[in-house]
Amino acid sequence: MTKHILVISGSLRKASFTTALCRAVCGLQIEGTKFVLRDYVRTVPMYDGDLDTDSPPIEVADMRREIVESHAVLIGTPVYNYNIPGGIKNVVDWASRPYAKHSLIGRRVGVFGCSPGDSGGKQAVEYLRQITPLLGATLVGPELLFSKINTLIAADGTVDASVLGPLSALAHELAE
Ligand SMILES: Cc1cc2nc3c(=O)[nH]c(=O)nc-3n(C[C@H](O)[C@H](O)[C@H](O)COP(=O)(O)O)c2cc1C
Repeated sequence: MTKHILVISGSLRKASFTTALCRAVCGLQIEGTKFVLRDYVRTVPMYDGDLDTDSPPIEVADMRREIVESHAVLIGTPVYNYNIPGGIKNVVDWASRPYAKHSLIGRRVGVFGCSPGDSGGKQAVEYLRQITPLLGATLVGPELLFSKINTLIAADGTVDASVLGPLSALAHELAE
């Protein structure tokens, strides 16, 4: 059976560097594995405890089901003001409910960050890597930070080998 790996971008921008890297991962050919780009950051409504019932919003229910059915999850994130973008936090918040019985428990999770600046998204990646085990998920792969990313993706979406190599290695690890 084909393993599905969900690839989640933390950016909504059409010209997002993060999403470009997510697309590059989805273009990798790994036998028996399919990488699926998901825009939960756009589709999932803002967390509302009053809607966090046995019948949550359909977008949330669909996301949780896809996470449970996935082999692994890969999150690509920019850094916004020294932290993860609010949209990714919102996705994690919905995915981490209900407490102790949620979709991320036992899930294998990889994270990468990128930025046009020097940080490579460090604070966002550090945060996600720190909370992954706290949520009962399993962290896969090393800390991947891609700085100066604006210089490493061509106009046609081709990603420089210095970025694609480590991303591909993480993808293969997630596919194991
Ligand atoms: C609200 C906001 C806050 C940001 N804060 C940081 C920051 O703290 N550190 C940094 O290196 N870049 C920061 N940036 C720049 C982003 O890293 C840059 O816009 C990046 O390209 C966004 O990712 P994307 O290309 O995937 O959309 C910020 C951008 C925005 C919009």
